[in-house]
Amino acid sequence: MTNNEYKKILKSKLSEKRYKHSLCVADEAVRLSLIFGGNIEKAYLAGLLHDIMKDASNEEQLQTFKKFGIILTNIEKSAPKLWHAMSGAVYVEKVLNISDLEILNAIRYHTTAKQNMSLLEKLIYLADLTAMDRDYNGVEEMRHAVSVNLEKAMHIGLAYTINDLATHGYPIHPDTIDAYNEVILEKNNTSAADSILFSS
Ligand SMILES: [Fe+2]
Ligand SMILES: [Fe+2]
Repeated sequence: MTNNEYKKILKSKLSEKRYKHSLCVADEAVRLSLIFGGNIEKAYLAGLLHDIMKDASNEEQLQTFKKFGIILTNIEKSAPKLWHAMSGAVYVEKVLNISDLEILNAIRYHTTAKQNMSLLEKLIYLADLTAMDRDYNGVEEMRHAVSVNLEKAMHIGLAYTINDLATHGYPIHPDTIDAYNEVILEKNNTSAADSILFSS
């Protein structure tokens, strides 16, 4: 299938606003791939399709999980906002017949993030936060961070997400906590290594 054919399907499944957001994330994912040396075609396609199930009803998403044998954890059951990433990945795999695991996982983890993310997974996670159509409080800080350092941008993105969820009393997916802890531990190790280097 060509990107134009994917766009037609996307247009039929999403509101105009969400469709435009998908195009913005695809463009942003390509821009970040050029900076950080990622695969441009995969970045565009994953960005384009990342929210393909975002406008589907809860019912339709639950049906998708049932049809393809996906079992939700208790935290996932309690957080319908996370569903579109999981149902999107399985829809893209089973209905659109895209078998590229990197693309599927970039879609799957674009909302929660996780430990040990690939470059493509990070680029889609961040492109979703820094795309042109985004205008939340703090987006400029995110855009600046992402243009300087991928790990710093992940730290800010994850901290923002965790803070926002906790403030509103929502559960936090363990994958998000794992991703956050990994970034923090790596950062601390790097600064510990730096101080050893400078003190010797
Ligand atoms: Fe999303
Ligand atoms: Fe999105």
